[in-house]
This record gives sequence, structure tokens and C-alpha cells, in this order.
Amino acid sequence: MTHPMIEQAAEILRGNDRGSYTVPTHGLYPFQWNWDSCLTALGLAHFDEARSWTEIDTLFDHQWEDGFVPHIIFHEADDGYFPGPDVWQTGRDVPTTGITQPPVAGFAVRRLFDRARDTDLARRRAADLLPRIARWHDWFYRCRDPQGTGLVAIIHPWESGRDNSIDWDAALAAVPTDGVMSFTRKDIQHANPDHRPTQAQYERYIWLVQHFRSLDWDHAKLHDASPFRVVDPGFNAILIRSCLDLAAMADTLGQGDIARSARAQAQKGLTALESLWNDAHGQYLCHDRAANTTVDSPSVGGLLPAFAPIPAARSKAIVARLEVIGKRSEYLVASHDPDSAEFESLRYWRGPVWLIVNYMIADGLRTAGEDAMADRIVAESLHLIEQSGFAEYYDPMDGTPCGGGSFTWTAAMVVEFLTKGRVPA
Ligand code: DGY
Repeated sequence: MTHPMIEQAAEILRGNDRGSYTVPTHGLYPFQWNWDSCLTALGLAHFDEARSWTEIDTLFDHQWEDGFVPHIIFHEADDGYFPGPDVWQTGRDVPTTGITQPPVAGFAVRRLFDRARDTDLARRRAADLLPRIARWHDWFYRCRDPQGTGLVAIIHPWESGRDNSIDWDAALAAVPTDGVMSFTRKDIQHANPDHRPTQAQYERYIWLVQHFRSLDWDHAKLHDASPFRVVDPGFNAILIRSCLDLAAMADTLGQGDIARSARAQAQKGLTALESLWNDAHGQYLCHDRAANTTVDSPSVGGLLPAFAPIPAARSKAIVARLEVIGKRSEYLVASHDPDSAEFESLRYWRGPVWLIVNYMIADGLRTAGEDAMADRIVAESLHLIEQSGFAEYYDPMDGTPCGGGSFTWTAAMVVEFLTKGRVPA
């Protein structure tokens, strides 16, 4: 018999399905989001393999000529979201934003490929997606690492996926607000304002959008022209993992050039990632590339490198950090250290637990042989759902559900956790 939580998750995935893509949740996020879609595909694959490939294909159908893949595709008009296409003005036939998001596509596609029941379909779809994902990765290293350090920078907090993390506070303070348009936020009409970013943060988010727009979304210029340039260890770990997964698939599919290049990118990234390790915190920290300073902020972004094949000693240190965080909160993994003065248990990425992050950390720890902590993260994740339903995120102290409800990627992760990736025959 199917687990009742899988039935509930399936219903959420169906309810948010728009045919060729899935919205994260009705109302608050009415379009296709980049990393949401890729992680959602993992859950969809359990029920309908062809549909799961389509989810990622649809995203890559909107890849730009330079290799960039946008963070939102505005498939249908919806004035319930701000900032919409009229603010971004990227000039695409189907409007998109001009910033990107954590590149989980390579990882997700490999997972679909490895588990495929319809192996002919998987070979065809993966062979077609591989070069497109490789072009996106090349875009990252070309446009977001112009000095060739091995690590890419984000130029807008939204690119990290951890929108209002404490990690960005100092860097965002350096972003001006003069000339920022007057605007009405829609997010706080759908979700509790106490769970969302502040108005001061939104003004800087929009200033950056206006700034990039004034540069015609020319990605060759945006990195150097942005006052906000931060190297996020979690983001880089996701890119490294995706490069390695891409390389593995490319080997299997006889795409040797892609395999070689992706492996070299990952190797360089892994070596450079070591520069972000911080002994005092026992975890990785962000680097503010614009200010050339270490960001002294112990967030989950510094634990996410567990998702990449980091040295065993680093994985063990991350487990030790998780044990400490686990003593200070009821549910792993708080998105910020609960002992930090800035920690806010309900406010988006300044404390709450996110199931997609739990999934990636647990996956990496399992590969590193840290099964006990991986099991604990999965068990606490499922306990959250039993207690509080399929929310966008949760208070790590008491499990209060926060943000949007009936949330797609939360549902997809529940399917992943409960099936342990096994798909029905
Ligand atoms: C939002 O609108 O809150 C999104 O996270 C931006 O991508």
C-alpha cells in the first residue's frame, strides 16, 4: 500500500502541475522557478517519468543564447507576483528574469537517468539535455568567475536561493537605494510578512534588478558592474556536484568532451572551495568578493558543501556542527546557527528549515558514509511533515509551518525521502 504521505504529496504535485512545468505554489509563486523545477522532477519521476523529463526540458527551452538559464520563466501573465516581466524587461519572447539560481540541473538529470525504468527515453532525453547543461556551467565559469579562481559569485541574493540569508546583510548594505522605483510587494499579500524579507531588503533587490536592466542584461558585464558579488560555498558545491554528475552521464553516453571539461571544472572548484573553510566555525563561510572579506556568518550555506565530494575530515566536521545545531533546535537543519544573535526562527532563510536543503545535505553525507546523521535529517524532515503538513519552510524550534502552503518541492522531497529513491517497477 502506498504511504498516505506519498498520496498527499502526489496530490500537491498534481495540483501545481501546469502541463509542462510545475509552479512552486499557487498564489505566491505562479511561474516556473529554476531550481524548484529540477528538484520537483525527482518527485514527479516516481509517478510519471516522461513528465519529469519535460519539467527540465521546459526550463532549458528558455536558455539564453549565451548559455544562461533564468531563475524564473514567466509562462503566463499573473499580476499576483512582484517583480513581474515589466520590471525585468529582459526582452525575451516568453519573458524571463535575467538572474539565475543554484544549478541543480546536472545533479537532477543524472538522478533521473540512473533510476530510469524507460532507459531508451532516458538516454534520448539526457543526451539532449547534456550539452545544454554543459553550456550553462560554462556560462557560470565564464561570466561569474572572470578571474578564473575556480569559484563563481552570485550577483543578486535571489540567485543563491537563500534570498534573505544573514550571509548577505553586509554585502547588501553596500547596495544603494537611490533611484529605486516605488513598488507594491505582492509576496506579503500571500504570506505572513513576519516570515518574509524586509522592505529594506526588497528595495536593494529591486535596485540591483534596475541596475542590471540598465546594462541591457549583458552577462559579460554584470559581474564586474555589480556592487553585490558574493562567493557562496553552498552554491559552488551544487555547481561542482552537477559538473561531476554531468561528467558521469557524459561518459556513459559517449560525450567525452563534455565529460573532460566538466570534470576539470569540478576539480578546480573543489580545490578552490578549501579557501572558504573556516576552522573557528568548523564550517565553510562565504567570501564577499566585492569587499574582499570573509563573511563571518555561520549559515547552512557553509554546510551544504557536504553535497559535493569534499574531504572526509570536512564531512566529519560538518556532522559535528549539525550535532551542535541539533542540540539547539528541535528539527534539523536550521538555515542559520540558532546561537547567532541575528537568527530568526520564522523569517525565510534567516533560521527556518527547508526540506530541499535537508535532502542535499543528507544525500552528500550518505555518500560520505555519514549514515547516522543522514538518517537523522531524513527522520526529522518527515516528522516535520507529519506535524505541520507540506509547507514552504518550518520553524526549527517547534516546527511551525511558514511561507506558502501545498508546496511543490517539499512534496517532491517527501516522495524522495519515503521511497529512498526507489521507483515502482
Ligand atoms: C521570491 O520572489 O521570493 C523569490 O524567492 C525570488 O526568486
